[in-house]
Parts: sequence; C-alpha cells; structure tokens
Amino acid sequence: MSYTRVESRSNVLEVLESVEALRHWREQTLGNPPQEGKRRAQLGLVPTMGYLHAGHLSLVERAKEECDFVAVSIFVNPLQFGPNEDFAKYPRDLEGDLSLLGSAGVDCVFSPSTEEVYGDLKKATTQVVPPQWLIDKLCGSFRPGHFEGVATIVNKLFNMVQPDIAYFGEKDYQQLLVIRQMVKDLNMNLNIQGVPIVREPDGLAMSSRNVYLSQNGRKKAVTIHEVLTSVKNAIEEKRSVSAALEEGRTKLESTGFEVQYLEACDIDTLEPASQPKKPIVLLCAAKLDNVRLIDNMIVQ
Ligand code: PAF
Repeated sequence: MSYTRVESRSNVLEVLESVEALRHWREQTLGNPPQEGKRRAQLGLVPTMGYLHAGHLSLVERAKEECDFVAVSIFVNPLQFGPNEDFAKYPRDLEGDLSLLGSAGVDCVFSPSTEEVYGDLKKATTQVVPPQWLIDKLCGSFRPGHFEGVATIVNKLFNMVQPDIAYFGEKDYQQLLVIRQMVKDLNMNLNIQGVPIVREPDGLAMSSRNVYLSQNGRKKAVTIHEVLTSVKNAIEEKRSVSAALEEGRTKLESTGFEVQYLEACDIDTLEPASQPKKPIVLLCAAKLDNVRLIDNMIVQ
C-alpha cells in the first residue's frame, strides 16, 4: 500500500473545553475514511499544564513534523499535586498560551475544566496505579500519589483525544518511563515520543516553575546543570560515581539548595547504577527559594 501525506493542515486554532466538542472536532478533522492509496491522517497530542515555554514549543514542533494534525491539552491536574504542593499557585496564563500555540500552527487546544475531566473530584475516581518498582523512588518517594495522578490524567487524555503519537519532555524523565510503562502494560494503541530538554542560555532546564525563582535564586539555579555536567565528566573519566555524586550534593547544598536526590540510575529501571556498564541517567531534584526544580542528564 502506498502512503501519501494528508494535505489538510488548516492553521485554524480550535479551542475546545468539552469532551463532546473534542469528539466532534476529531470526527470532522480525522473522520473521513482514507481514500485509495492514502493513509489515515495522524493526530499528535502534546499534553501540558499550560504556562508554556520554549520546551513545550519544541514538543509542538516535533509533533508538527511527524503528524498531520496537532492537539495540545492545557489542564492543571489537581490529582497529581499533594495537599501541601503548589496546585493553587501553579502559574496559569491561558491567553498567552493560546497566542503562542496559534503562532506555532497548532490545530486544536483542549482546555477543559476540572469538572469536565473528573466530575465531582471530592468523590473517589478510578485511578491508574503505576508499578511500585518504578514509582517507589526519586520523585515518587518525595511526592506520594503524584505518579498515580499523572498516569490517570494521561490515560484519560489519551481516551479523550485518541492520538496516534503523544509527546512528552525528557526533563520529567521518571514521568516519561511511567507513561511508557502504562502504555505497554495496558496495551494502549499509540506511540510515546520523548523530546530532549530545552535549556536557557546558561543551562537551566526550562520549566514553568522557574518563574517562581527570585532574581538571586534564578542566578543560582544553574548550579543543578553545572553539577550534573561535572558528575557526567567524572563518570566519563572513570572516576568514582559515588564520590562525584557526594561532591555534587555538597556543591548544591553550599549554594543554598535543599537536595531531595542526586542519583545515577539505570536508564530503564531507575535502579542505582554505581558501576555503569550501559548508559545511565543522572537525576536531580532540589528546592531553591522553596521552588522544586528537577533536571537530568544521560551519560552514554
Ligand atoms: O508534564 C506535565 O506537564 C504533566 O505532568 C502532564 C503530563 C501534562 C500531566 O498532567
């Protein structure tokens, strides 16, 4: 069978707030059966919590390269925030986001209310529980319930949008593994695409939460990237992994960070990797100005 690209990108940004409107858009946009010799149009989804930056736009760019239509969801998911976390003050700017996504040539933005997604959230909802071996460590041990909330909303978004490919940033490395595992374990019919971290010119990984940093904190925040780079160099020079990690923790603490973890892990299982034989991932989470920052770096 020969395939050709579906030439139908509309450049009209549809902003949808209900699942019904989304289904209608999907039917209108993708519903026609493929003509002889043509394949079905591919839909890419970029799930976000809004307050978009260049990192999100790189996911959109990748989706546009690979798919005929691109949908972006904007939903600050209450289920993935703990009781003492920053759900209420998580930054929001729907108007700014829509303007960025319009210029980026996205076809559809799905921005539902909490009620549209969960109904009455005070009532317990069915949840997806990722395997313990993947969430009993790193972010999972500092944020109990977080990955259940992520897996649940991502599963719901997949069911609502029914994308062919979904795009996630590699900055949330553990989240990406949780989502890949869910798709595998639950036989979901889509592909997951990880997209590399986008950094500020000084090396700080882009994040919606960077906006919370004080001016001084913003200057210091780059230390996470510096520490990851020096641990990577130490490993490449065959120096002791544990000594390099200990040095890194000390450097972060002396800069004013409260370090939650700085670890070298197996890229697939996230088990500690003290004598790396295959590529490993260095992962860090640390608080500065009470802002929780995460970052990571692969060592081949
Ligand atoms: O990475 C995020 O922004 C969120 O965790 C996600 C994947 C959109 C789910 O709410």
